[in-house]
Amino acid sequence: MAKQKLSFVCQNCGNVTTRWQGKCEACGEWNTIVEENVAGGIGGGPQRGSLRKGKPVALMPLSGEMEEAPRIHTGIAEFDRATGGGIVRGSAILIGGDPGIGKSTLLMQSAAGLARAGHKVVYVSGEEAVAQVRLRAQRLRAADTDVQLMAETNVEDILATLAQERRPDLVIIDSIQTLWSDMADSAPGTVTQVRQGVQSLVRYAKASGAAVILVGHVTKDGQIAGPRVVEHMVDAVLYFEGEGGHHFRILRTVKNRFGPTDEIGVFEMGDAGLREVQNPSELFLGERNGKAPGAAVFAGMEGTRPVLVEIQALVAPTSLGTPRRAIVGWDSARLAMVLAVLEAHCGVRLGQHDVYLNVAGGYRISEPAADLAVAAALVSSLSGMALPSDCVYFGEISLSGAVRPVAHAGQRIKEAEKLGFAQAVLPELSKDAGRMRDGLTHEIETLPHLVAQVAGSGRGRGAPEAIDYDS
Ligand code: TYD
Ligand code: MG
Repeated sequence: MAKQKLSFVCQNCGNVTTRWQGKCEACGEWNTIVEENVAGGIGGGPQRGSLRKGKPVALMPLSGEMEEAPRIHTGIAEFDRATGGGIVRGSAILIGGDPGIGKSTLLMQSAAGLARAGHKVVYVSGEEAVAQVRLRAQRLRAADTDVQLMAETNVEDILATLAQERRPDLVIIDSIQTLWSDMADSAPGTVTQVRQGVQSLVRYAKASGAAVILVGHVTKDGQIAGPRVVEHMVDAVLYFEGEGGHHFRILRTVKNRFGPTDEIGVFEMGDAGLREVQNPSELFLGERNGKAPGAAVFAGMEGTRPVLVEIQALVAPTSLGTPRRAIVGWDSARLAMVLAVLEAHCGVRLGQHDVYLNVAGGYRISEPAADLAVAAALVSSLSGMALPSDCVYFGEISLSGAVRPVAHAGQRIKEAEKLGFAQAVLPELSKDAGRMRDGLTHEIETLPHLVAQVAGSGRGRGAPEAIDYDS
């Protein structure tokens, strides 16, 4: 009998070693190495006696006939937007997200939408029993559609079942962590099993022309549990995210072979499932109190789409030796930089003040264009002067205190006007960028100009002594 070959595989990065270790040498994670039998599976090497000679394939020129990737539309506009205009036939899409964020809900609603449009959809649930899936479908008012269900986790059985029927347009696998294959010998959920299962399903998608959506859970540190390897096997990777305590969800594209990767779809979780949010700015600005000092509206961009959010700052004298900096929804290094520039170039002293910064609605900003809005909110809070409630801010701040232009100024301004804003404070515009049609456009060159504009109009009730007005 051939000796069984045992290997130790890191569940985080997939690195294979010959003995167990507490720490993976490849990725540095602790306690991620698990014993797996990889013989015969991927990474098992060629089987003895079955080494075959390769056969030549025809080479093709780059130019030649091609067709526009055929897409199917889910009927959920936000989902179609995130996938770049609909699901491409024969493609494999991975949707990752924290448990309980609403992946199964989103996919059940999409499945129902497609089924209503006459597409054949198969929903494979490995996590929930058929009765549970039915119950959810009822709640989502999707029970009357002819989505076909399967509660199965074995890859070979799933593929055999799919082969028996008319080719489906879409197969949903919920989730990849429950998949197991006869070909791999380790426990379900391990790297080898997940990789084997996903590979079989991706091969099925390419061969049959049916689109496959795979659901993956995300680990604490934001990776799709275990195998990052799965991410490059599929055509598109989407993340479904949301802040705890807020009911809106964002579907974010991080990889897409058939479309742009900076798109988002915005949803709101309600009693009857996810509702599309066509105008996210209204959602994020919903509960705004324009008269309080320390709040500035930032005109941001998410992909091709403008998003207006409120940035709230609270600056208060500290009672601690080292003042606190607490931030939600923005980058702490970026805040430190803005504070340093305010201090060095504008005479705004915050060394004896705690600074709290919050992006309203649980939204997360990743653009440097938010610098100017953050600076405005900070100065407003410090001086106790409320900013004009009909004004938006955007612009990047450099270490020298200059305000740098950012992309899509025209679109940002247009969105602000659409929502009733009448003023914009921004970097110098290039010639082709639009201005506010009816309102005021304040182009500023340096941060001290902004500070003068916010605080210079009078002394507020906050801590005016912290601003050196003469500098
Ligand atoms: P689910 O789709 O099961 O999450 P995932 O598949 O990502 O683990 O969503 C579960 C959560 O969504 C659960 O906490 C309840 C909530 N929910 C609603 O608020 N309304 C609804 O109509 C549904 C179906 C779920
Ligand atoms: Mg689920």
